[in-house]
Amino acid sequence: MKKIENTNEFETKRQLDIINELKKEYEAEFKRTGINKTYHIETFGCQMNSRDSEKISGILKQIGYIETDTEDADFVLYNTCTVRENANNRVYGRLGYVGRLKKNRPGMLVAICGCMMQETAAVEKIKTSYPFVDIIFGTHNIFKLAELIKTRRENETIGGKQSDRMVIDLWKDTDMIVESLPNDRKYPFKAGVNIVFGCDNYCSYCIVPYVRGRERSRNVKDIIDEIKALADDGVKEVMLLGQNVNSYGKNLNPRVSFAQLLQEIEKIEGIERIRFMTSHPKDLSQELIDVMATSKKICKHLHLPLQSGSSRLLKIMNRKYSKEDYLDLVDRIKKAVPDISLTTDIIVGFPGETEEDFMETIDVVKKVGFDSAFTFLYSKRSGTPAANMDNQVEENIAKERFDRLLDEIQASSAKAAGRDEHTIQDVLVEEVNSQNEDLLTGRLSNNMLVHFPGDKSLIGDIIPVYLKESKGFYYIGEPV
Ligand code: SAH
Ligand code: SF4
Ligand code: F3S
Repeated sequence: MKKIENTNEFETKRQLDIINELKKEYEAEFKRTGINKTYHIETFGCQMNSRDSEKISGILKQIGYIETDTEDADFVLYNTCTVRENANNRVYGRLGYVGRLKKNRPGMLVAICGCMMQETAAVEKIKTSYPFVDIIFGTHNIFKLAELIKTRRENETIGGKQSDRMVIDLWKDTDMIVESLPNDRKYPFKAGVNIVFGCDNYCSYCIVPYVRGRERSRNVKDIIDEIKALADDGVKEVMLLGQNVNSYGKNLNPRVSFAQLLQEIEKIEGIERIRFMTSHPKDLSQELIDVMATSKKICKHLHLPLQSGSSRLLKIMNRKYSKEDYLDLVDRIKKAVPDISLTTDIIVGFPGETEEDFMETIDVVKKVGFDSAFTFLYSKRSGTPAANMDNQVEENIAKERFDRLLDEIQASSAKAAGRDEHTIQDVLVEEVNSQNEDLLTGRLSNNMLVHFPGDKSLIGDIIPVYLKESKGFYYIGEPV
């Protein structure tokens, strides 16, 4: 047998053993009752959380749980986000609801995990206000889920109050990357692949570095092996995930750049499309632009969060680029990849934002011509430097600016829409249209949606489609 030297490999083996142990117990229970246990995951937040939920799902399916689409299940998990305050409030609402369900469902388990659980105040609130929760874990120890279920089941024997049986396992940070555990994919033909965990950027408004820990890149070999296995399994499109993919490899020895990683992925047979998210402007290298310009597989879409167009605010936000740097970067990208679609994130109402600062943002939106943008009202996150700034913007002023920004973004989207009208483009067919069963829905390389008539056997294929008509956010197409 291969000697296990690395603690991470040791952990993989340990967890797989626990998963198998539980699997046997669940099989025995199934023999007695004839009923399979069900699970349901509610996922909040970004693609990082969606990917984590796939890992959670993989472990649960391996144990023997069957997925169901409502919270009326034997095991309900909330994978939380805390990037803005309303994200937290939504979770408390769901917990109130599941608490009532649990009263009528003996043996039901409720777990809460994700970014919100990395904050002490939120955990304390759950312990006191929602004592029926069975398991609490965080962003660093998802791989331990089977072990936590096992402990929770063992705690059942100690009796006492429900809250005494709660299992809480929270890590402040970690340098562990536990590979090769089960995981489940939402789509057979496209998959998210983590390349960097955590974030070291400490933008002054942002909670993510505190809840996701320090930046850690996965080894090139682990990533390539995972993508090769995905390709063998029929995956055609990968989405590489990290809070800042452009800083990939900084902590690897020897150092590897994101552009180099992309070139390795490009060689993998079967993979036809490569996407990535998110690109921090400060780390987007000319090397990457050059690779994007020549690549046959990297998609023609770049999500490049601006946050603000004011160099003054960008400095206070700790973004480490100026308005001019951003515009220059966009120029270089557009020159190298003329048909690129650019999207962005913008925050309105950051502390101290003046009308002049805001107009700088509008100016960048006008100059860049984003295809679309996620716009956010600044939300105070305690623990971040911006939360202590004493010049918070009044809500009504921020809201008014937010509406003006939306108008500007809509104008920009409308201008960008229809660029590819009357051309033939490759489309990855993703699903049957939710509104009209005779139509299929797919995506262009630039991420734009296309609806067109076709048979569902085409799902997962990349096919040429004539873009007959632009409808703003999507095209009506005709397969050729
Ligand atoms: N790593 C990514 C962003 C992750 S968070 C990046 O650097 O671009 C997603 C978005 O949420 C951010 O781009 C930002 O626009 C927004 N956001 C983060 N913290 C916020 C806050 N306190 N208030 C409002 N929006 C926030
Ligand atoms: Fe947050 Fe900035 Fe890190 Fe993005 S790069 S996750 S905005 S701290
Ligand atoms: Fe939210 Fe965590 Fe993502 S805070 S935005 S789910 S990294």
